[in-house]
Amino acid sequence: MKALITSGGRGTRLRPITHTQNKHLIPIANKPILHYAIEAVAEAGIKEIGIVYGAESDAVPRAIGDGSQWGVHITYIPQDAPLGLAHVVKISQDFIGDEPFIFYLGDNMVVGGVKRFIERFQADGANCHLTLAKVKDPSRFGVPELDGNRIVRIEEKPKNPKSQFAVAGIYIYDSSIFEAVNAIKPSARGELEISDAHQYLLDHGYKITYSEITGWWKDTGKPNDLLEANRLVLENLPERNEGEVDEQSHLTGKVILEKGARIINSYIRGPVIIGENTVIQDSYIGPFTSIYHHCTIKNSEVEFSIIMDHCKITDVGIRIESSILGSEVEITKAQGKPHNHRFMLGAQSYLEIA
Ligand code: G1P
Repeated sequence: MKALITSGGRGTRLRPITHTQNKHLIPIANKPILHYAIEAVAEAGIKEIGIVYGAESDAVPRAIGDGSQWGVHITYIPQDAPLGLAHVVKISQDFIGDEPFIFYLGDNMVVGGVKRFIERFQADGANCHLTLAKVKDPSRFGVPELDGNRIVRIEEKPKNPKSQFAVAGIYIYDSSIFEAVNAIKPSARGELEISDAHQYLLDHGYKITYSEITGWWKDTGKPNDLLEANRLVLENLPERNEGEVDEQSHLTGKVILEKGARIINSYIRGPVIIGENTVIQDSYIGPFTSIYHHCTIKNSEVEFSIIMDHCKITDVGIRIESSILGSEVEITKAQGKPHNHRFMLGAQSYLEIA
């Protein structure tokens, strides 16, 4: 069994963060999203991983490396244009060869690993094993139509979904998927849709089985999904303290301090993670907050937020909440008169003022 992981796509719903950063490298609980996918397949015993990335940037190969830190071997497969998930599978045929493989969308996060799905695929003797998750808004996803516990049809982003399930971005295939991706034609949006490949398999008598993801699954495509994923991962992380806390500070709940993190005269209410060499001074950090490396928070309050590297937040008089700050963002109190708000925001920034 091999693994194929995606790391391309434009991440339009996460702009402006994704203007300068691949969405798969956004940190969740201070770890790039893509690490969670690699860890999940490595934990299932897979050693050969292919990562498909957008050929216009080598940010992913540079950030992830050869896989040795996870005891796996990673092959990078460039995709010239975002032509759809079935196109990703198509260009990876040489890498996959004749073996079965798990296809994992690198922006999906799931609790409980993927081993159970691989075992079901093998036990079922299936050509394709899908994972289904009950969602509130199925029309954003691939949606199955079920007859009892058999999938009879799959539609991509249907206006009238035939079930409450989304096809999650974790799929297991044997090589019949290559017949499908080579036969289907681009959809109205010009992409080779993975749902069309699944429908091809159904139409040609191949066996598709599924597992229901009863725990937690997220496609981290939107800002709130990132905050939710961050919350969940923080809740499940073990406590760790490699930083320093002075006597004036007060920590409650689970607080993870990474190497060189310093807490000075502050109140931290976990679950919270504070990154390497980040300094928190005279501040309050509330639950479900991740502050990445090399940040400074002084005389301010932050809660339920993701703060990326090298941010500076100083003397901000109101609590910053439900917020996502990209790298090197600075927020500070205006000095002197006039007493006004002054902004320097990049394209597609979003600001809410009380
Ligand atoms: C893709 C697939 C869709 C699937 C979803 C899961 O959608 O096309 O079938 O349900 O991933 O994350 P996209 O995220 O590209 O809109």
